[in-house]
Amino acid sequence: MIKTGIIGAMELEVATLKNLMTVNTVTAKAGMDFYDGTLEGRSIVVVRCGIGKVNAAMCVQILADLFGVTHIINTGVAGSLNPRLDIGDILISERALQHDMDSSPIGFAPGQVPDIDVLAFPADRAMIDTAVAACRRVNPDISVLTGLVVTGDQFISDRKTKDRLIAVFHGDCAEMEGAAVAQASYLNRLPFIIIRAISDKADDSAGGMDFPTFERQAAEHCAKLTVEFIRSFEPA
Ligand code: ADE
Repeated sequence: MIKTGIIGAMELEVATLKNLMTVNTVTAKAGMDFYDGTLEGRSIVVVRCGIGKVNAAMCVQILADLFGVTHIINTGVAGSLNPRLDIGDILISERALQHDMDSSPIGFAPGQVPDIDVLAFPADRAMIDTAVAACRRVNPDISVLTGLVVTGDQFISDRKTKDRLIAVFHGDCAEMEGAAVAQASYLNRLPFIIIRAISDKADDSAGGMDFPTFERQAAEHCAKLTVEFIRSFEPA
């Protein structure tokens, strides 16, 4: 049976899902509250992990060990690195890597975790396809792309850093949890996807006065898509 762990970094991102689901239990662990229950008749665990890679990785491990989830979704907002992604649009991960992982002096590619066999962690094909189709149904007015999520413990808000993430990694969006969720899922052999709505352009305009408004809109698009994903996902 499928049981999907749904991880958001911020309360805004998980509030809608918590309101819509039937909650059976709430378990506090490592400063996170795990809401175990059902949505559209499907088993889910919804949790706000907090910001950053350490929180995100810990959260996946708890979902795997304590809740026995079979699939992982990470939803949230991101800064756009791709000119085709405007504020409010959605990026679904094909792959994810950590832009602040750099062991290049000892022979590894920038972004590569030493001694792991992949540079970017691949998301699950069936989950990607379901998410894209779900997004087109419930958010018909926005663009949905698939691509590379680049993750680091850093809010990107200057043009120079943004340009580096594009030049070195060819990233499509920048955020602060996805690749940690991806690595922890990969190591636990759990299929995953990252669903990110664009809240800013990851340049000098990011984090400005409009950020809370854009963030709210972006989080709504993510929540609608995630509900439709849960309703429609049939693994192979
Ligand atoms: N989340 C939303 N926007 C972001 C940005 N510009 N950098 C990192 N994480 C983000």
